[in-house]
Amino acid sequence: MSTPTKWLNKEDIYCAYSFKSDSLDLKIINCIDSTNSYLSKRINKQNIYNKPIQVIAAELQTNGRGRAGRIWHSGLGNCLTFSLQWCFKRHSPDKLVGLSLVVGVAIIRVLRNSCESDDIKLKWPNDVLYNQKKLAGTLIELRNGLYECTFAVIGIGINFKLTNSMKAAISQAVTDLCEINCAELDRNQILGNLLSELKIVLSDFEKHGFSYFREEWIRYHAFDGQSVCLHLPDDKIEEGIVDGVDNSGAIALITPNGKKLFNIGDVSLRSRLS
Ligand code: BTN
Repeated sequence: MSTPTKWLNKEDIYCAYSFKSDSLDLKIINCIDSTNSYLSKRINKQNIYNKPIQVIAAELQTNGRGRAGRIWHSGLGNCLTFSLQWCFKRHSPDKLVGLSLVVGVAIIRVLRNSCESDDIKLKWPNDVLYNQKKLAGTLIELRNGLYECTFAVIGIGINFKLTNSMKAAISQAVTDLCEINCAELDRNQILGNLLSELKIVLSDFEKHGFSYFREEWIRYHAFDGQSVCLHLPDDKIEEGIVDGVDNSGAIALITPNGKKLFNIGDVSLRSRLS
């Protein structure tokens, strides 16, 4: 018999959150188009100065969005879907390349700890994989020129317990925490832990930049040292061997024409295509 869904609730989330509760402004909503769209429409001045962090979590998204215009599929209560807003006072968007990578670091720290598994890994820039299957993803949307800040809306989706029909409908290999026997399957606990870790990681990123996380990030990379294809937005493909990331978060590939750095693109293993 399957266990009944435990719904999101503020009390448990705040209980798992390790900072003062007044540093967090959390809304839980039953149904919404997209938590990223919701927060993007509500960027305001109040969030600049020692804000509580604005967070919205939803039981169901009807128009969940992924990177590069893709759809993020999730059903009622079977994923953790949430977004938070962060205001960068000193960083223009071009200085924020590493942001999506450090968000991945926060997710990996929490999931590895909760699931007691080092097989949960990152795929540049921030997909979370287990056994080469997608477990979680992040969509970051930036807006600058407002109140001399760059606002980031950071949306995270983590698969908890997808139905078989949903797995079959998604066009890439996916997995969920249930499939990897994660000991901690309470979305409230994981959300509270993640919000704590994100607060730490985002503050460190603001102070020290991506170089502070670089070595840790490379340790988590599923494809480091592997032969990959990088699919660029203009439909070009670069082939090469992954040689870490640089201090800004750009991926380094050793190509037949030398070492190259890229800020954009989708990586896949070369052996998977042949
Ligand atoms: C990706 O892997 O392409 C990114 C997926 C991001 C999904 C999350 S779910 C919460 C937030 N709201 C959205 O519409 N998207 C992000």
